[in-house]
Amino acid sequence: MLTNESKSNNFIYLDNAASTPIDKEVIDEMLPYLTCSYGNPSSLHKLGRVSRQGILNSRLKVSKLIGCSISEVYFTSGGTESNNLALAGCAKLIKKTNPLCNKIMVSEIEHDSILETISNIEKEMKFNVDFIPANKDGLINEEKFRELVTLETGVISIMLVNNEIGTIQPIKKLAEIAKDKNKKTIFHTDAIQALGKIPLDVKDLNIDLLSISSHKINGPKGAGALYIKRGVNLEPILFGGGQENKLRSGTENVPSIVGFGKACEIATMKLEANKNRIKEIQSYAIKRIINEIAYSKLNGSKKQRVPNNINFSFQGINGEVLLIKLDENEIALSTGSACSSNKKQKASHVLKALGLSHKDITGSIRLSLGYQNTKEELDITITKLKEIISELRKLNEFESESN
Ligand SMILES: Cc1ncc(COP(=O)(O)O)c(C=O)c1O
Repeated sequence: MLTNESKSNNFIYLDNAASTPIDKEVIDEMLPYLTCSYGNPSSLHKLGRVSRQGILNSRLKVSKLIGCSISEVYFTSGGTESNNLALAGCAKLIKKTNPLCNKIMVSEIEHDSILETISNIEKEMKFNVDFIPANKDGLINEEKFRELVTLETGVISIMLVNNEIGTIQPIKKLAEIAKDKNKKTIFHTDAIQALGKIPLDVKDLNIDLLSISSHKINGPKGAGALYIKRGVNLEPILFGGGQENKLRSGTENVPSIVGFGKACEIATMKLEANKNRIKEIQSYAIKRIINEIAYSKLNGSKKQRVPNNINFSFQGINGEVLLIKLDENEIALSTGSACSSNKKQKASHVLKALGLSHKDITGSIRLSLGYQNTKEELDITITKLKEIISELRKLNEFESESN
């Protein structure tokens, strides 16, 4: 349930892959920890114990949503930190204990928090990086993947769901291939866009590390977690008081961790119902856009896709101009990946990897649905989209590429 404040603004919010409104129940759960229960969870007194218990309860709720035990959940400040800890933590340990396994494999379509970390590891720790290509639907090429895993592959990181196009990778299969070829390789998956959208079970996926983030599932910003399979070791990247079993020093962000736990509890209960309802709206919207807006093209796999992602390219349109016009009409969505939009605007590396032309890349927008969205909101959005695209095409004297 959303708060009145988040509902009362008249925005149609279709940017839920960037961030989500916080649930009212989540805020209620957090409030005591923002007001009276302010103790440091490391303190021995009662207020400290209350905070400690809040974190423990949250750990249990997170573990239930991803199917692991509580000792395998390590809280962080969010998805970016989880990804950094997973990859840099692994690389540091490999450098110390097994320097010959200095190859890292990632897909070409990872989030920048993976790609930038990898680039740093490559430079600072002298690792070699293998990039796995994706096909035109955004799916990893399994044969190429199999070929590239060797006994020197120390770490593999493939995202479960892509943030721009919503494609779901066959992680279970990829992890199986990887472990078959090299038992010792560590398999990490960035599941930040998968959490709460599709069922997640780390044991079934048979992976070693998995990153998740609170603010993508109607929880607060400032909390995330890394699942670390029992028996898998990492080196810390933050040093200090030794919190999180000595792996992530720093006083815990108790209110956000508690809110994250509540958001996971709600997601556990409502995942199936929310998934089915949003999928229906997604299919409806995709069909309408394809049928009613000429020269439009859905990006990413039609079938292997999370229910909340709609990514389209419109010929003869600049996605940023379209976004601004929609924003003037109180409709919020994004072009490509919102998380990297404070970098100088660069063409989406994901759409590029899929082989899209420069025009199709710049003409793309992403609508990402949340459980609060309704079919009526999508109807309003599509009507506006049609109007604006038609105006812009007239203005640009657009002639389709097929003409
Ligand atoms: C796939 C993916 N990985 C990582 C991140 C970074 O997560 P956070 O914003 O919690 O740092 C994002 C954010 O959008 C994401 O979509």
